[in-house]
Amino acid sequence: MASALLISDDESGYDPELFCIPKHYVEDLERVFIPHGLIMDRTERMARDIAKEMGGTHIVVLCVLKGGYKFFADLLDYIKALNRNQDESLPMTIDFIRLKSYCNDQTVEEVKIIGGDDLCMLAGKNVLIVEDIVETGRTMRKLLAHLENYKPQMVKVASLLLKRTPRSSGYRPDFVGFEIPDKFVVGYALDYNEYFRDLNRLALAITIRRALSAQTSGEVRIAEILRKSFPRASAVKVVDISGGCGAMYEVHVESVEFKGKRVIQQHQLINQVLKDEIQAMHGLRIFTSVPK
Ligand code: IMP
Ligand code: MG
Repeated sequence: MASALLISDDESGYDPELFCIPKHYVEDLERVFIPHGLIMDRTERMARDIAKEMGGTHIVVLCVLKGGYKFFADLLDYIKALNRNQDESLPMTIDFIRLKSYCNDQTVEEVKIIGGDDLCMLAGKNVLIVEDIVETGRTMRKLLAHLENYKPQMVKVASLLLKRTPRSSGYRPDFVGFEIPDKFVVGYALDYNEYFRDLNRLALAITIRRALSAQTSGEVRIAEILRKSFPRASAVKVVDISGGCGAMYEVHVESVEFKGKRVIQQHQLINQVLKDEIQAMHGLRIFTSVPK
């Protein structure tokens, strides 16, 4: 079983005031969970472990975007440094994929792979998947099952974080940086609804002040209206950006129903279905997109 740096359940992290935090995030962050320097030190050692276990043959490194990009970049820098300074080296090619989870009929969650070269090139290759965090392990299990179709010789997974959670499916990556408690963490390219990815340099993981896992009743209600009104939507996201008081929301709907319509028309459709809700709020920020 892979070893990892264990962060205990009662780890309280560090006061953000002790670090340089971007001003636009100062209000949102509770604690710095893993300082940047510790991430780098641990990543350096993971690079060595990976080179030892996978060395000798060419590998294809697959970065899972977007969350995995910082870890991927730093891990590869360390592997490249080993290649420059050791007799043995690990030749690599790289590729990037994005995964999208969606519900095809309310119950069956599927993972769709977007981007990347033709995966047929994985046939017979040794593949290293680089991911930011494994929580339940469902995403990774589905990705691994999918990649099997392309007949790679070997697939290993390196994840910077593994969450200790009762929701876990029991899946454990081959290389794990840190095993962390069941908390929602952001920064170092990990996001909460696209926020905090730019919290790069200093801290990996920061718990956020308001309870993120629990959706507010407003968020649930608005998401329900949107899902009913756009039955073919592949993604619906609703966030109360007023900190839970229902004054302002951000909504994102991705649906084929928007295809061929101008952005303004797409926004009008959202405004239309939410018109009763809008009366009770100060603002609504709308994002729409069409699935690729
Ligand atoms: P899993 O399928 O439950 O293992 O989910 C893995 C995915 O959920 C990750 O690739 C992340 O995108 C997301 N995720 C899970 N926990 C966190 C977290 O604490 N912060 C940010 N993203 C998370
Ligand atoms: Mg991820």
